[in-house]
Amino acid sequence: MTIHSPTSTTDEILDVTDRTEAVNNGDASDLARTAPRGPVMETRDLNVFYGDFHAVHDVNLSFGRHEITALIGPSGCGKSTVLRSLNRMNDLVAGAKVQGSVTYHGEDIYGPKVDPITVRQHIGMVFQKPNPFPKSIYDNIAYGPRVTGMKVTDMDAVVEDALRGAALWDEVKDKLKSPAYGLSGGQQQRLCIARTIATRPDVILMDEPCSALDPIATARIEDLMSELKTEFTIIIVTHNMQQASRVSDRTAFFTARPDETTGNRTGLLVEFNRTQDIFEAPADPRTEAYITGRFG
Ligand SMILES: Nc1ncnc2c1ncn2[C@@H]1O[C@H](COP(=O)(O)OP(=O)(O)OP(=O)(O)O)[C@@H](O)[C@H]1O
Ligand SMILES: [Mg+2]
Repeated sequence: MTIHSPTSTTDEILDVTDRTEAVNNGDASDLARTAPRGPVMETRDLNVFYGDFHAVHDVNLSFGRHEITALIGPSGCGKSTVLRSLNRMNDLVAGAKVQGSVTYHGEDIYGPKVDPITVRQHIGMVFQKPNPFPKSIYDNIAYGPRVTGMKVTDMDAVVEDALRGAALWDEVKDKLKSPAYGLSGGQQQRLCIARTIATRPDVILMDEPCSALDPIATARIEDLMSELKTEFTIIIVTHNMQQASRVSDRTAFFTARPDETTGNRTGLLVEFNRTQDIFEAPADPRTEAYITGRFG
């Protein structure tokens, strides 16, 4: 497959950025009044089914390079489903079917010759519940570079860089061989972020990464995200409105619409815009109702 490496695309993307006017979201253009230029990833008419259940309908989104995009909306509207579609994690869910396209630097990640493992090396993921491996702190970080066959001359340096990048180094540098399970929840989540960045992805997907953390650990992760975006593109699902408004550059608001006959609730994108506009001047009354706490 030819999914580009993050470094080889830099010039190309800068080129595109210079030339491209705001990307219009096709039929859903009114939903994206200011889409990012030269997006790293895009979805076009993304639909996801679990068996016969239509979980999300016609999602058109563009994710800007070195931006944080927040996906928000009430429970069950399909945020995690959309997020998992962005690095083919839904391939691992029995019965899940993805239609439409998801492109990464213009290449369809569901293309016939594309290897999902390679996709996930470029587009990493951090989950809601910290999920370190039952290994030492060191081995949690070294695992990815080892199994993906990264050329590493100094693994100690790779481990240190990743832990520094995840703002965890100072807290663990004297106990690298200790089990990761001995860390606090907030430390474990930063370890999982370190593990993700150790394999040098281009995009990091985060599904409610702070929902199991206290406010102090949450603040640390939020600070970290702002640092990480200088190197990575981040897409985060969050239920925390303040978090979305604090950390993200753009916000996508989803809701779920019940089918008139079946009553099944299918998720759809209501509005996608700069975060400030979403929170200060939402275009759709459903967005306003949600962010002001009157719905969802
Ligand atoms: N593995 C699955 N099998 C069947 N249905 C699923 C599966 N995962 C999710 N769904 C359904 O798809 C819809 C969207 O779920 P999803 O988890 O994406 O929502 P969400 O917006 O992330 O919700 P939450 O905020 O509660 O995490 C829901 O109706 C859910 O029940
Ligand atoms: Mg979810």
